[in-house]
Amino acid sequence: MSTINYSEKIPNNVNLAEDRTLQRALEQWQPNFINWWDEVGPEGSTDFDVYLRTAVSVDPQGWAQFDYVKMRDYRWGIFLNPGSERTIHFGDHKGEKAWTDVPGEYRANLRRIIVTQGDTEPASVEQQRHLGLTAPSMYDLRNLFQINVEEGRHLWAMVYLLQKHFGRDGREEAGALLERQSGDQNNPRILGAFNEKTPDWLAFFMFTYFTDRDGKFQLAALSESAFDPLARTTKFMLTEEAHHMFVGESGVSRVLQRTAQLMNELRTDDPKTIREAGAIDLPTIQRYLNFHYSVTIDLFGADQSSNAATFYSSGLKGRYEEGKRTDDHVLKGQTYKVLEVQNGQLVEKEVPMLNALNEVLRDDFIKDSVAGVARWNKVLEKAGIPTRLTVPHKAFNRQIGALAGIKMSPDGRVVSEAEWAARRDEWLPSAEDFAFVGSLMGRVVEPGRFANWIAPPAMGINRQPIDFEYVRFN
Ligand SMILES: [Fe+2]
Ligand SMILES: [Fe+2]
Repeated sequence: MSTINYSEKIPNNVNLAEDRTLQRALEQWQPNFINWWDEVGPEGSTDFDVYLRTAVSVDPQGWAQFDYVKMRDYRWGIFLNPGSERTIHFGDHKGEKAWTDVPGEYRANLRRIIVTQGDTEPASVEQQRHLGLTAPSMYDLRNLFQINVEEGRHLWAMVYLLQKHFGRDGREEAGALLERQSGDQNNPRILGAFNEKTPDWLAFFMFTYFTDRDGKFQLAALSESAFDPLARTTKFMLTEEAHHMFVGESGVSRVLQRTAQLMNELRTDDPKTIREAGAIDLPTIQRYLNFHYSVTIDLFGADQSSNAATFYSSGLKGRYEEGKRTDDHVLKGQTYKVLEVQNGQLVEKEVPMLNALNEVLRDDFIKDSVAGVARWNKVLEKAGIPTRLTVPHKAFNRQIGALAGIKMSPDGRVVSEAEWAARRDEWLPSAEDFAFVGSLMGRVVEPGRFANWIAPPAMGINRQPIDFEYVRFN
């Protein structure tokens, strides 16, 4: 187990005390981070004491310490998973010793990878900043805040790598991570999905289910990296990511549970009647799913990408569960099937696998996502409701890659521009859907009470009761 010096300003297991330059750089960055948190972090939350999980070390006992914390005083620590003598297990450097420093020839690409990952972390905090004002319960409010502080810590993790390993460039990038802003016209976040709004709690649950899962797959691919500090940082981040996806999966489950209950009580599947009863109808939930799924699979990038090939061959970024795969881990001469548009129709095409690694990761993500949707359907099945949720076709509503050039229905039919325009509001949330879901978003924060549109969770956090005082407003 690594030891942490608690007397340090910045809790860490990276021997920060012995690196004065780095310590000074981080201590200079910290006030800017706190300013950023105050300005665009969770709105109106400064005085709240929140029952939060804080990581104080990376071993199973240490990374989940629960106590009341003011969020701006959260101990944004820097933790790497324990190191071991690793050898690089994929790409052109396979069999060589993993790098503890950045090789000069890969510096620009590694920096770009770390900055792109780092940029998503504060972006999601910005996207979620107003949600606390309309929390459906104190339990949910606490979960939102837990995710917010951990995304803040993930930003710290990437900033540590930039400042430790990339000198002045790294310090500049660390500053820029606090300057770009989600949805900003002039200086937006790097990736599309992180400039979208998260206007309500259904969107939040879909985001944490799908988009935090993109995080899981990106982090998992980076945890294979030949650059050992990146591999060890991302491994630890993955333990926190699991909770974010849990919030999304259980959140949507609870919405479904409540909707199904009302459908049974009122003996109806009419969306209008369900809405009048103050719950979210299943077609609206399906449209939110379609939106978040399609926007998130765009995050994996173009289906054919020479960058993806370079990142893999040079050992910077592996595949999901690289170590468990039984091929040669070099992939030269292998192929993969991707979809392409030809004469307005989709066709399959075999391309060099190295160039298709974005698609490989996207397909792994899709498999994982679909499994959770099946668990949501169990909720409906148990309630005796025949409707099932489905993920839309991979080519539905895509903005990035070859599939962006086509209009596709959720069930996988190529459609004309006219049909798309006519049916768009059946397939994606409309302004009216957002207005309706928005109208349900009141603030319910008395311990143990829940908004009408969502069922209570099966159990509380850290074995506390559901009506535990998860947030003290002071
Ligand atoms: Fe994160
Ligand atoms: Fe996350």
